[in-house]
Amino acid sequence: MSLIKEKEEYLKNILSNLKYDVDNVPILPSSKREFGNFQLNIAMILAKKYKKNPMDIASEIVNNLDSSFINVNIATPGFINFSFSDTLMLEYLNECLKDFHNLVDKHEEKLVFLDYGGANAAKALHVGHMRSPNIGEALRRLANILGDKTLSDVHLGDLGRQAGMLISEIKKRNPDSPYFKEDYKGEYPKLEFTPADLGEMYVAANLDAVNNPERMSEVREITAEIDKGNVRYIKLWKQLVDISVITIKEVYQKLNCHFDLWEGELDSFKDVPKMLEKLKPYLYESDKAMVMDVKEDSDNKEVPPLIVIKADGATIYATRDLATIYSREERFKPDEIWYFTDNRQSLYFEQVFRASYKAGLVRKDCKLLHFGFGTINGKDGKPYKTRDGGVMELGSLIKLIEETIEPKMKKDLKNKEEVKEKLTIATLKYADLMSFRNTDYIFDLEKFASFDGKTGPYILYTTVRLKSLLRKSNLDNFRITKIENKDSLDIYLKILELPNILNRCYNDKSLNYITDFLFDLSSLFNKFYNNYHILTETNSDIKNNYLGLVKLVYLVIHNLLDILAIDEVEEM
Ligand code: ARG
Repeated sequence: MSLIKEKEEYLKNILSNLKYDVDNVPILPSSKREFGNFQLNIAMILAKKYKKNPMDIASEIVNNLDSSFINVNIATPGFINFSFSDTLMLEYLNECLKDFHNLVDKHEEKLVFLDYGGANAAKALHVGHMRSPNIGEALRRLANILGDKTLSDVHLGDLGRQAGMLISEIKKRNPDSPYFKEDYKGEYPKLEFTPADLGEMYVAANLDAVNNPERMSEVREITAEIDKGNVRYIKLWKQLVDISVITIKEVYQKLNCHFDLWEGELDSFKDVPKMLEKLKPYLYESDKAMVMDVKEDSDNKEVPPLIVIKADGATIYATRDLATIYSREERFKPDEIWYFTDNRQSLYFEQVFRASYKAGLVRKDCKLLHFGFGTINGKDGKPYKTRDGGVMELGSLIKLIEETIEPKMKKDLKNKEEVKEKLTIATLKYADLMSFRNTDYIFDLEKFASFDGKTGPYILYTTVRLKSLLRKSNLDNFRITKIENKDSLDIYLKILELPNILNRCYNDKSLNYITDFLFDLSSLFNKFYNNYHILTETNSDIKNNYLGLVKLVYLVIHNLLDILAIDEVEEM
């Protein structure tokens, strides 16, 4: 348990002995450091609740504090200010030096199933597609650190118009292939396309289909056939999906994403009948489609019925999500399922979740949760585009960042390409996680790729500095015996805030508090670095204390970058 949490529990206990009922007693960093390093605002809150004078409550609390609270004082209208002794702080900080997990307050273990990534097979990934993997992966890692068991599924979009497009193009180029012979009985040939071939064929098919209604109706027909279970088309399409997954895997690997399951919409097909069986009592016909009411009396917005089967009998996105929920419950019985897509799917997920609970696809106590995110915009406030107004593909953005980063790098690096790639991904991820999950943000390339300021490269630069100090120190046993100066104290106080920061990210499912913390801690450290000569310090006690600080700061930054799935570099 963290020091702050331990003391918060202690305070809660004092309050309950004094017959005050509170959920928690947050110890906050002081807003006026001359009065102490920490403050409590609880007296004011209790005063309202119990209709008492906050100054009286504050004195009651203060009279009960043990000697680990020092320099205790009360300020009007009822703030309690205090510090912890250096001995107490150092004892804890040395524990953290031994094990980062002392800075983490774990919660009760539960099984969380995360659905993120969601790339669509045989379609290029656009900038917006990086948000789900970036946010989802970081939250998976954070959840693990905080004590959850997790399972992640990429949930590929492997059904849809793109299937019809590609198959119709293959048919055009190779009409005699057995895949297009209805009564063919022999072996089917294996497809030998590359991911690039798929891209080229998709563009060709699309170009033709938009101007040619006959072609478009063929595309639709093939797409519908796949949905109905046409064996030849499904055989063909599954191979195309596998080929396209090669590229998708490359992208997710670049983004350091780990998926336990590589399932998709196609995999849910087998569960559709069983799912429909459960939904049956609630389904009714409307305009030939099968729909289900999901509105509730308490709604203050319109929640329309959910279409489960289309008028032509075909399944849709919702059918597949419902079947997927059914299957996840059958196989894993998760405590929670988290979905990460953009905000535009919020109402959709609300409908799907309500239908799932109503029809009993999941237990009532399995929490189905959608975490939406905002759009990535250009400086004009509209969705981020290429210079000529086209859609910005993720690959193109990565190239742009690489070009911006390269001139800033040291000229004589050994593994230049690798460093460039890591700096690029750090730029991308840090920028993407830095604003509150739910809000839109403007992608400012120059600002985000800068080596200075609130950016990924700045944090990595700090780790390069820290690691170089640690290497040159030739020390392997780190211990802090004294808080040497105010700059060190500022760093340690910042570090004490971390357990809370992690919980806040988890509760809000937003990583911005970690990116803020990384920037604050890096800035404090770089200030310290400029103010003191660490390696040339002649007093060995002082030097060892400095190096203990360096080690602790590195440990914290290293573990936080790992949560964000950002790799470090050795030089840059
Ligand atoms: N492929 C979907 C899209 O591009 C995202 C999938 C999200 N997950 C889900 N279970 N629906 O919008």
